[in-house]
Amino acid sequence: MSSPGFTSALERIGNGGQDPSDLEALLAAQDRSRVDALHSAAYAVKKREVGLVARLRGLIEWSNTCARNCTYCGIRRDNPGVERYTLEVEEIVAAAYRAREFGYASIVLQGGERQDPAHTERVVKLLLKIHAATGGELGVTLSVGEQDRSVLRRWRQAGAHRYLLRMETSDRDLYARLHPDHPDWEKRRRCLDDLRDEGYQVGTGVMIGLPGQSLASLARDLLFFATQDVDMIGMGPFIPHADTPLAAADFDSERQVRLALNMIACARLLLPDANIASTTALQALHCRGRERGLLAGANVMMPNVTGLRYRTAYQLYDGKPSLDEDAASSRRQLERSVAAIGETIGYGERGDAPRALARLPRP
Ligand code: 5AD
Repeated sequence: MSSPGFTSALERIGNGGQDPSDLEALLAAQDRSRVDALHSAAYAVKKREVGLVARLRGLIEWSNTCARNCTYCGIRRDNPGVERYTLEVEEIVAAAYRAREFGYASIVLQGGERQDPAHTERVVKLLLKIHAATGGELGVTLSVGEQDRSVLRRWRQAGAHRYLLRMETSDRDLYARLHPDHPDWEKRRRCLDDLRDEGYQVGTGVMIGLPGQSLASLARDLLFFATQDVDMIGMGPFIPHADTPLAAADFDSERQVRLALNMIACARLLLPDANIASTTALQALHCRGRERGLLAGANVMMPNVTGLRYRTAYQLYDGKPSLDEDAASSRRQLERSVAAIGETIGYGERGDAPRALARLPRP
């Protein structure tokens, strides 16, 4: 039986409450009955608000060259063990084309963070070519880190209409410890405002179970998503990577999965009509991680459509799944996962979040 404290916290959050200690109580859910109660409440909200339809985005990891040195990330600048690559524009366009052929009506262009003019121009060119090759029909999300507002504007004009910029944590001190050579949390947050002002659908997210991150801090992350009024949320468990300063961080994979699923469920309760991703990192820790993410309230999945040749070089954390799985078999796998829980796939639909459509004209 769920304790009265937990049950009333769930009721309050389900009714629009935003008390951080209620969120903490939900995040702490561990025994079967509480976890089931939390996840089913979130699933009911998902069903009502966005339907039982998994939205797919073809993920293109187009470059692992990165100017940043995040202490947790496998492709950080100071990791000499990474074979750096940047796909040719033609290869990226081909991957986008493949995504469209598969019926993924949206793609995500994800790459390491760079702020130089050559990079800016490359992205402009990419966007224009992708739209030309796919009849302007594909939804395009960029996920290439913090950028100046003028750069964001150029990319928006060139046809990107969504942008994912994870805050990684809403805790300024933890953020500074994780990013010793770019500790300015507020600067990153302002970038989210810039994205919104430039007319993007805006996504953010955090890593879950970071060293030094409490449940209270995760509750504040959730409230940050609500305050920032984001359209999309992408978050997953932190997983140590052997060649990073956080290699030896305390790590309990069962706890990470549990917390990540509880975070998804709480995010669904707080932002009922947002697009929420069931991320690859979740799948890395549990063989049915992605389905479990959907069952906890997520509605977006991001199958990789990058050519296999580069898959291993884009290793943000250890144990990343699908390193040797081509785009066609990962699609079959995904279809099985979604069918197994009785949902359908929104093939051919861009799948914009209702909350974004309410705010912006259809791009
Ligand atoms: N574990 C989990 N997620 C990670 N990311 C980077 N490194 C790790 C890790 N070790 C996530 C960050 C980043 C996104 C591209 O990948 O949240 O924003």
